[in-house]
This record gives sequence, C-alpha cells and structure tokens, in this order.
Amino acid sequence: MLLEVKNLKTQFFSNKGINTAVNSINFHIKEGKTLCIVGESGSGKSMTSLSIMGLVEEPGRVTDGEIFFKNNNLLKKTKNEIQAIRGNEIAMIFQEPMTSLNPSYTVGYQIDEVLRLHQKSLTKEQRKIRVIELFEEVGIPLASDKYNEYPFKLSGGQRQRVMIAMAMACEPKLLIADEPTTALDVTIQAQVLDLMNDLKEKKGTSILFITHDLAVVAQMADEVIVMYKGNVVEQASVKELFANPKHPYTKALLGSIPIPGKVKRKSRLETVDDKLNYLDFPKEIR
Ligand SMILES: Nc1ncnc2c1ncn2[C@@H]1O[C@H](COP(=O)(O)OP(=O)(O)OP(=O)(O)O)[C@@H](O)[C@H]1O
Ligand SMILES: [Mg+2]
Repeated sequence: MLLEVKNLKTQFFSNKGINTAVNSINFHIKEGKTLCIVGESGSGKSMTSLSIMGLVEEPGRVTDGEIFFKNNNLLKKTKNEIQAIRGNEIAMIFQEPMTSLNPSYTVGYQIDEVLRLHQKSLTKEQRKIRVIELFEEVGIPLASDKYNEYPFKLSGGQRQRVMIAMAMACEPKLLIADEPTTALDVTIQAQVLDLMNDLKEKKGTSILFITHDLAVVAQMADEVIVMYKGNVVEQASVKELFANPKHPYTKALLGSIPIPGKVKRKSRLETVDDKLNYLDFPKEIR
C-alpha cells in the first residue's frame, strides 16, 4: 500500500467554535492506481489533500489520525522531513497554480531546478531540451519562448500546465492533483488527463485526483471516494460506483447528470438537494 489514511480529522478553530473540515476519514491508494475524491464545494476535498501534504494552515490543524506513506506516518515527521518528501516522492498540483510557482524566477528555470534535483544524469543542455519537451507535452504553445517567461506573464491555464510539467519532471510516487484541469479548455484538459494516465502507466505513479467532474472520474479513477460535509459517505471501484451507487448522496450526485458513462463535460456536482442531510443515512463502504 502506498498511502493509507486512517481516521484523519482536520479542524478549524475560531471564537465561533470548531469547524470540522475532515471528519475521521479512511482510505488508501495502491501503487500505480488512481483514487478520485468527488463531492460538492466545501465537502473537504482540498483539506484532505492539504492534510496529507502537511500544508494545513492556522487556524486549521490535523487533530487526529494517521497518514502512512510507504508505511511511515507522515504526521510524525518533522517539518524538514515532510519538506523532503514533498516535491520529491509526493508532488501536488493545486487548484490555484500561482500559490506554488515562485514569482521571481522564470518558469523554465523552475522546472530546470526540479530536473537538476531529480534527474541528476542529465546535462545542462539535455535539461533545457527536456524542459521544452515537457512544456510541449502539456500543451504550452511556443514552448521554447515560454522558457524565459515569469509566471505572471502567463495565462491561468498556462500556469496550470507549468505546474503539471513540474510535477511530471520530478516523477513522484504519488501525485496529488486538486482540480488540475478546471481552468483549461476541453481539448487541453483531455490532453492533460491523458498525460497523467501515461505517467501512471509508464512510471507506476499513484494519483490522488480531486474533481467535481464525473466525466473526469470515469476517465481517471480506479477507486472513488465520495465526500459530503467532511465525511466519506461511499467508497467503491469506479465501475461499481457508476453501475450501482449505494449511498443516497451518491445517487443524488449521479442523478444530477444525464447518463453515467455518457456524461457531458463540466457537469458540476452542485445541484444536490440541500434540504436533506445525507449524513442521516448509513455509510456505504465496500
Ligand atoms: N481558513 C479556513 N477557516 C475556516 N474554515 C475553513 C478554512 N479553509 C477551509 N475551511 C473549511 O473547510 C471545509 C472544507 O473545505 P475544502 O476547501 O476542503 O472544500 P473542497 O471540497 O475542496 O471545496 P471546493 O470544491 O470548493 O474546492 C469547508 O467547510 C471550509 O469552510
Ligand atoms: Mg477544493
């Protein structure tokens, strides 16, 4: 097992009280497999991934649980140890790419830096070729011109592609992708998803993929967990989930799209009946 999350609880503290963003969830990811987390806005998807990366910020904090990465509990690691694992064995593509690109360096330099650390056998010239190749692979137009650009000169979609190129450059064991393609147009989105699947097939990378888009789930996932108000209400293989959703919330999610398997792109998961409290129903973990 590459990643095992046990009883993870992440909470925010304020004078108004405690907000439990992630409420004692459990899941695991096998080597070379993709787990998708789905759920509506605010259900705790990003907080789950930030908890794994050790990036939850005050007033938030992981208050309970264990996160085993290759049998080591990440919650027991020091800041330095976590930092070494991050961007090395675990890479993350964020919802908002500006947060993880350094505004003071060109995007080419930033990827070159990753290659210098992770692919030590490459010469300087080979690295430059590889950076441009990576830019081309993720669909950045005029890739060789973009090498010397600063992040703020690129469009949102281009910055997101730079992030993906950077994550691919370090060839991580685990790639955490939080809505990585939301800002991209449909053609580029499809290319980027294919690239991630290539990475998984060729390098055995495991992927934790967060998305609202059920068409993307169908294309990417081996396993799926459905989150609702910080809880995992259902966990199943992708096939099982679409063929035979068990939890009422999952049924409602799938019901909010036309035909499973023939899902329209960008079908968002936001039309679920708010008057029901789906936590009143039992969990469906298979
Ligand atoms: N700084 C904060 N202070 C208090 N609560 C927070 C803070 N950041 C996030 N939360 C809470 O954590 C919960 C989960 O948020 P999270 O960002 O994980 O949702 P999400 O599922 O990723 O949503 P989205 O699909 O919109 O990205 C929410 O209830 C949110 O209010
Ligand atoms: Mg989020």
